[in-house]
Amino acid sequence: MAAVTTLSFAQDITITTDPALAALSPEEMVAKRQAIMKEDGGILKGAGALSGAEAVTAADHLIANLSNLTVLFPEGSAVGDTGALPVIWEKNADFQAILVTAVTAATAMKTAATAGDATAYADAIKAVGATCGQCHQTFRQKS
Ligand code: HEC
Repeated sequence: MAAVTTLSFAQDITITTDPALAALSPEEMVAKRQAIMKEDGGILKGAGALSGAEAVTAADHLIANLSNLTVLFPEGSAVGDTGALPVIWEKNADFQAILVTAVTAATAMKTAATAGDATAYADAIKAVGATCGQCHQTFRQKS
């Protein structure tokens, strides 16, 4: 039963997740979300130097990764070597809202990249980056 989860928001943001992720064990979810976060860091770092089709591809990758994170923190998945704090499930609406903001910013990145608007693209990269720190501040164990 692989139904795609799609949530729509006022600003026309659609969150589409990979249905295969639902089948992962809690341990696999931890590994997958950590891998996605690392990858996002790399994409963000390199994105500023990109333009045209490459910039669009980078934005698409971020949109997919950040969307998938919305299903990679189910209750009971704070297992093993995880930096996920219990507050994720106490304030889950806040946690998910940051991910929606992140997907919105990554979508703005894509729109700007498609239009060739370098200023808007740079601003959107900053907006995505801001959501990383905003979430970690509250929801991730300090290392
Ligand atoms: C909605 C909250 C949230 C957002 C947004 C978010 N993170 Fe995270 N991040 C976390 C949590 C929680 C963990 C700990 C996950 C775990 O260990 O289970 C984490 C872990 C990480 C890690 C460590 C991964 C590892 O190998 O242990 C890195 C790197 C990271 N995030 C980078 C980023 C970057 C870059 C962004 C922005 C593009 C980002 N994160 C956005 C919540 C978030």
